[in-house]
Amino acid sequence: MALFIDSSDPKEIKDLFAWGVLSGVTTNPLIIAKEQPNADLPEVIREVLSVSWGDVSVELTTETEKEMLEESLVYHAWDPARITIKVPFSETGLRVLHQLSKRNIKTNVTCLMAMNQAYLAALAGATYVSIFSGRVRDMGYDVKPVIAATRDILERENLPSKIIVGSMRHMMDVNEALESGAHVPTVTPPILRKMVWNPRTIETINEFNSAWRARPKKK
Ligand code: E4P
Repeated sequence: MALFIDSSDPKEIKDLFAWGVLSGVTTNPLIIAKEQPNADLPEVIREVLSVSWGDVSVELTTETEKEMLEESLVYHAWDPARITIKVPFSETGLRVLHQLSKRNIKTNVTCLMAMNQAYLAALAGATYVSIFSGRVRDMGYDVKPVIAATRDILERENLPSKIIVGSMRHMMDVNEALESGAHVPTVTPPILRKMVWNPRTIETINEFNSAWRARPKKK
């Protein structure tokens, strides 16, 4: 079981890795374009690598098989042990994935909405298969059976791919992903902070500390 952070902001990533609960980072072109509009991609990823540990997913932005393979090799060279190539799921994506898995390059197949897609990605050798919780729900479907069916088929067929669940909109999505069989929820910094917060916890700590401060002191 692991928890990843879905962010490209080195300051946030550094701060949150200090909690000791994270073991990887997922990014995507939309996150990087929003969080670091003017930054240079190699620079951003270098910084992310330096403030984190574990696998760092970097998504391909090209669209032909040849370009995607070339792009993958550039990213892979930045840190072969940790860079995980995020491959968008498609027929071309499967061809690229197959090439990368033959070279033992870590992969994260992304934008998955259904178990059958995750199954194909796992058969082609994906290290991770990423199911998009919020985007499945946006279509009006329940994501829990998608996660549970994917976990079942991976176990039954002895496929080593791990299920990442991303596209989290609420804290409840994290709980449901965990209960349904996700190996790795990937959460945004605001959602991770919400996982800590509970008004009754704060109230209880305040009650204990106030009692301690107000205790009768020895003269
Ligand atoms: C996961 O790896 C993706 O980066 C991410 O969670 C996508 O989420 P979105 O639906 O908020 O774009």
